[in-house]
Amino acid sequence: MDTFVITGQRPLRGTVTVSGSKNAVLPCLAATLLVHRGRTTLTNVPDIADVHSFIAIVEYLGAKVAFKRHTLTVDASHIRNRELPVDLVGKIRASILLLGPLVGRFGSAQMAYPGGCVIGKRSADAHLHALKVLGASVSPSTNNIVIRPGRLTAARIVMSEMSVTATENALLAAATLPGTTEIRLAASEPHVQDLCLMLQRMGVKIAGVGTSTLVICGKRQLQAVKHRIVGDAIEMGTFAVAATIVPGSRITIRGVNPEQLDAFWNKLTEAGGHVTLGKQSATVRYAPKLQATSRLETRVYPGFPTDLQAPFALVLARANGVTKVFETLFEGRFNYLAELEKMHVRSEVYNPHQALIIGPTEFKAAVVESCDLRAGATLVLAALAAEGISTVYNINYIDRGYERFAEKLTALRAAIERRVLPNS
Ligand code: EPU
Repeated sequence: MDTFVITGQRPLRGTVTVSGSKNAVLPCLAATLLVHRGRTTLTNVPDIADVHSFIAIVEYLGAKVAFKRHTLTVDASHIRNRELPVDLVGKIRASILLLGPLVGRFGSAQMAYPGGCVIGKRSADAHLHALKVLGASVSPSTNNIVIRPGRLTAARIVMSEMSVTATENALLAAATLPGTTEIRLAASEPHVQDLCLMLQRMGVKIAGVGTSTLVICGKRQLQAVKHRIVGDAIEMGTFAVAATIVPGSRITIRGVNPEQLDAFWNKLTEAGGHVTLGKQSATVRYAPKLQATSRLETRVYPGFPTDLQAPFALVLARANGVTKVFETLFEGRFNYLAELEKMHVRSEVYNPHQALIIGPTEFKAAVVESCDLRAGATLVLAALAAEGISTVYNINYIDRGYERFAEKLTALRAAIERRVLPNS
């Protein structure tokens, strides 16, 4: 069982480069399965647990994979359409992204329901709705997702919600279909755009990238390409919060266009944060005087990202006044507040979607436990700002999505150490 032991209040100084985006690399990895001949190369691939879990699944299907120094090559020439068992897909919610390529390439798919962070209901309905419109024949089953053999055709899909991975699944399936598929109410997150860019390189015509209407002209045979994964804007936002709340900090975060986080920077500035944005960087300084903001509401892109709701709560906790937080997307994303209470953060959770953060707070060191990826990172940030020595348990959640988090923080002069505790 690994933990982080963190001595707080060491000023963060220097430059950190974000890794490739977790939420971009997974659909791009799924897209490699659409290539019948040759090796597809992805660069700037983050070395995180979710990537390794996803690789295990594509290898199970028979793909040949090499992953070294952030470069991943996949040869999917000889993959087989096998049923995906729960021990593989149960580890990672994004395994649902295999549905699109399998149905696109083979006309059928069968997998156990995916697992992942426990942050809400996260049903498969939006995915299956999109695939059904393309002609997929879905069998009712409580334990498995079963798509019976059949032929898909291009169609006009109106998504049931602006779901990120459901849009990506629709794109992955449509990429293989000659004719015109229209995806309306599509998600437009930067990682969806990155997948579009990769599919375009592979020979798919896609119009409307970055908007909520995508028009796709697919091809049966897609070509092997080289594609660089976009930098992780959520990682940039995470480090920006760290610099804002840890006394004496000043850091530059590089590796992604900060415009991806417009709504986040707006809120940070409104709270009194000190931010200078560059083309591919942001410089953020400690902000000694923070104030509560007008209500914080998570939204689909380009709104305030749900993945930064928990980290941003620390800015609000340090701020003077009370902020109402409205988590409009997930119903399990306030669980971290109970852990933060141990660090003297005051909050009131009204219901699964609404909470109050009551500032100002001086964080105190504590022994705390991660309950999901972003919650885990939030506890680390709180510990960096707290007086005293904290221990954060369950850091395997953090390893899922942040590459070498402790090492990057150490390079910024934080006092954070990974410890492997003997099982008791
Ligand atoms: N939702 C709505 N209305 C909408 C769109 C979504 O209520 O218009 C709800 C959904 O019902 C669901 C939640 O919002 O409960 C998230 O929906 P979505 O299907 O978009 O999530 P996802 O595709 O399963 C991806 C990311 C998540 C990220 C969400 C939202 C990947 C692999 N995962 O999940 O990433 O939180 O989009 O942006 O891309 C993370 O990185 O920590 C993470 C959980």
